[in-house]
Amino acid sequence: MKPSFAMRLAAVLTSIVSSRVVSGRTLQQHPLITPGDQYVIGNGVSGYHRRPPSHIPLASSKGISPVTGFIALGDSYSAGIGTGVDGTEDDCRRGLGAHSVLIASDLLAGQGGRNSTTFQFLSCTGATTQEVLSSQDGSHESQIDAVNTSLSADFALLSIGGNDLGFFDVMNACVFRFYNFYSGTCETALKNSRDQISSDEFTRRLEIIIIEILDRVHWEKKEYFTITVTGYARFFNDVTDDCDEMSFGVWWNGPKLKKDLRIQMNEMVLEVNAKIRETVKTINSHFIKDKVIFIDYDRGFDGHRFCEEGVKEPDYDLNDTWFFLVGGPDNARNGTRSNHVSDVQTLPPTSALVDPSSCLEPAQASRDWGRLALCYMAMAKHRDPSLRLARGDLVAENSMWYVPTYYGKTFHPRSLGHEAIRNKIYEVWQTLE
Ligand SMILES: *[C@@H]1O[C@H](CO)[C@@H](O)[C@H](O)[C@H]1NC(C)=O
Ligand SMILES: *[C@@H]1O[C@H](CO)[C@@H](O)[C@H](O)[C@H]1NC(C)=O
Ligand SMILES: *[C@@H]1O[C@H](CO)[C@@H](O)[C@H](O)[C@H]1NC(C)=O
Ligand SMILES: *[C@@H]1O[C@H](CO)[C@@H](O)[C@H](O)[C@H]1NC(C)=O
Repeated sequence: MKPSFAMRLAAVLTSIVSSRVVSGRTLQQHPLITPGDQYVIGNGVSGYHRRPPSHIPLASSKGISPVTGFIALGDSYSAGIGTGVDGTEDDCRRGLGAHSVLIASDLLAGQGGRNSTTFQFLSCTGATTQEVLSSQDGSHESQIDAVNTSLSADFALLSIGGNDLGFFDVMNACVFRFYNFYSGTCETALKNSRDQISSDEFTRRLEIIIIEILDRVHWEKKEYFTITVTGYARFFNDVTDDCDEMSFGVWWNGPKLKKDLRIQMNEMVLEVNAKIRETVKTINSHFIKDKVIFIDYDRGFDGHRFCEEGVKEPDYDLNDTWFFLVGGPDNARNGTRSNHVSDVQTLPPTSALVDPSSCLEPAQASRDWGRLALCYMAMAKHRDPSLRLARGDLVAENSMWYVPTYYGKTFHPRSLGHEAIRNKIYEVWQTLE
């Protein structure tokens, strides 16, 4: 694996270095948005539609932003799992509240009714760098392969890393213990994750992804094209003592949210962000002008994590928490985004999805946290029929309990979290020339 990645990277870097000389070409203006255009405020909900910075995505330096299209790639943090679907949830669990959707809708609102932004929403829950990287042998269609190059794209959004770096295993082993006694130890999961974060493999893959995206959109003909890469946010307030005796475990008597655990899990997130930031910096060093923008929205989640002062976890009613709990509701502003999930997705509890003898392999292959969680729970219950759910009342009340999203959305941003991510993206874009 390693040599082949290094070789691919070397090859793409060489091609970029040799082609960047031609990047002086000026862009043509797409006069879709004139400076005088009024931006529509959607739904009368204050704070919903935001005006994206006029000079980003950067197509000119004249304060005009002729955005004609963009692409979103990556994992469930980019897909916006749990933030509402319109009728049917797709297998990628893309949500209406995803920050990329909010940006698309802001751009649309900014076009004075002319609907001319094409948004390619290719992000997918469970995606690792492998699913994003172009398939060299044509064995599968990766996200980069799926980019339609006939459609215009002025910028790309990317979130990737959590699945490569073992977030689910840490969540499972340290917090939820879906597979009960068999979930492995928290220490091991944290150590594996740390090892993976500190190895070069992820960095190398991220570099290739970024370069492949640039190649795919023919960046040399689009000097304004940028890739905005988002990180992750720390999950917990790790200063409070209040949470030490509380638990998110799915089974009775689950692990406690001790301060030390919260600190370690937060550190994992900070390390991933640091790794992404460093990689982005390295890539930019190959270009005359920065091609990649790293968005660290972590501080924006201050006060909105789990275990905040005075909060008794799990608190399902608290809209100020910007991450999902298992089966917890969303906190979208108008609260009306449909969460209806189609029949195809609401597989009955007896389906293969939760057949303890056969669910594991497909769940692992999908890397979908929800499918993994459900499968582990089915397996745990199968091995020990006397197991009791910690929140049986909640499950009994909710007819959606066997939908993977019910579990898969946990520790992902809720709608207000995605708004904060979007706002941070705009804030950073605004600081660019
Ligand atoms: C904009 O156009 C696209 C593609 O034609 C369509 O899918 C989308 O629903 C339109 N959006 C609005 C708000 O009209
Ligand atoms: C790419 O987009 C063009 C323009 O909308 C469309 O005609 C074409 O079918 C798309 N290609 C694929 C492979 O979807
Ligand atoms: C939380 O947000 C939801 C969705 O907007 C809303 O229905 C609910 O009333 C809010 N809850 C509280 C306690 O404010
Ligand atoms: C409010 O609800 C409408 C109708 O479901 C939806 O189209 C819109 O995106 C929602 N807005 C927010 C901020 O959730």
